[in-house]
Amino acid sequence: MNTTHALTQLPQSSLFRKGDVFVLFGELFGRGYASGLVDQARKAGMDIVGITVGRRDDNNALRPLDADELAAAEANLGGRIINVPLMAGFDLDAPAGEPTPTDLLNELTLKTWESGTLDWAHIDTCRAIGTERFRTGVAEVMAQLEGMIGAGRNVFFAHTMAGGIPKAKVFMVIANRIYKGRGDRFMSSQTLLDSDLGKLILQNFDEVSANTFGHLIEGSAALRARIEAGGGQVRYTAYGYHGTEILIDGRYQWQTYTNYTQGYAKMRLERIAQAAWEQGVKATVYNCPEIRTNSTDVFAGVELPLISLLEALRKEGGGAWAESQWQACQALLADGFTLQDVLDKLAAFHGSAVMQRYRDFAAWPMPNSPEQADIQIGTSEDIVGMHKDRKALITDLLSTLVLEASGALIFNGSAAPAGPVLWLNHDIIARQLNALHA
Ligand SMILES: NC(=O)c1ccc[n+]([C@@H]2O[C@H](COP(=O)([O-])OP(=O)(O)OC[C@H]3O[C@@H](n4cnc5c(N)ncnc54)[C@H](O)[C@@H]3O)[C@@H](O)[C@H]2O)c1
Repeated sequence: MNTTHALTQLPQSSLFRKGDVFVLFGELFGRGYASGLVDQARKAGMDIVGITVGRRDDNNALRPLDADELAAAEANLGGRIINVPLMAGFDLDAPAGEPTPTDLLNELTLKTWESGTLDWAHIDTCRAIGTERFRTGVAEVMAQLEGMIGAGRNVFFAHTMAGGIPKAKVFMVIANRIYKGRGDRFMSSQTLLDSDLGKLILQNFDEVSANTFGHLIEGSAALRARIEAGGGQVRYTAYGYHGTEILIDGRYQWQTYTNYTQGYAKMRLERIAQAAWEQGVKATVYNCPEIRTNSTDVFAGVELPLISLLEALRKEGGGAWAESQWQACQALLADGFTLQDVLDKLAAFHGSAVMQRYRDFAAWPMPNSPEQADIQIGTSEDIVGMHKDRKALITDLLSTLVLEASGALIFNGSAAPAGPVLWLNHDIIARQLNALHA
């Protein structure tokens, strides 16, 4: 797999129309990638159906949404929600009366976690229970969905699930240091991966961010067969991440956020799409650019590449609208700072010997290092410090633009998808935005 699997043309076909069904496989958050896709489905007049991950009661038991929660979720989505809890991952699953993986993690302390061992036979049992719970939930969801899709309709399944960080106190501290720590607070991501704690977390990421896509494709096989037999078409999309090509030194170059521990799960997600594609299922993982969402706030510096989109907007034929985005971004900076100052800071970051070592596609996802954490987190903090208001950032504005472009590219691209794994790099994002605002 390499980034030559990039979407390079604005998709021209269209497939989905009024009365077709769009199924969002994950919950919708305002800043999240899925909102760009849901907007497209709404504009096309599709019926929108969602799911819920459910909620936990005081004893950590998973429950459906209550009436108020359901009404709020349906209003937010603008569609019906199938109220069967589809929380993925096995961090809180266990045979009755036995400890969950999170309970086991909670026995570890900041002093013991590196050498602490876990009972893998027990973890395997918990994993099997969690997987079965999820698959049973998917079967119930599909049974309800059957009745919502009329003959001759096309169906778009949009997978958005990613996560799996267990709520264990010790890991909250470790995560903060791995993703946000520098200097004395730096912590090596490789040390985490070498520990039993890290190995458990990687398994949970696989379950949430990758295997759920497989369960969706498998669990909807009967529905897919029925729809296709009636002349309808079915598509599956998922959001991947595997670095992005952005403008560095005037040309598009691949770069990545480091350390992306979740990268192993994202590569597994790619393999799931490839395997499905080989079976004739139109399943595509779209590897998307770095943006700021509820899920990325933990990763300090993940937003840095996004700023280069401003340059891509100009390079890809941007006119008055692109210039107005430059002006809107300039207006967010404090007196005395210009966008050029921000871009110079970014150029120094990408040009540094430290960060150039991290532009190694084959070695992805590379572990963090003290020098890399220092320059990445430092640059991020410096750029935030150039703003008038830390809560109104250039990267907030640019994130909304990427949501808009990616929504259109994925929605239109899914009419005639070009392959199982496609990168949306800054060139095509910028071209799509310029086309939408011409
Ligand atoms: N934000 C980025 O920079 C970026 C870049 C590339 C790809 N992506 C991917 O885009 C997708 C959406 O993420 P986002 O950044 O928009 O954030 P988000 O927080 O809006 O979305 C996260 C999604 O994961 C679901 N989820 C979380 N934990 C879950 C669990 N245990 N079980 C089931 N579902 C769970 C949530 O319901 C939600 O739908 C993810 O697959 C993410 O990896 C994000």
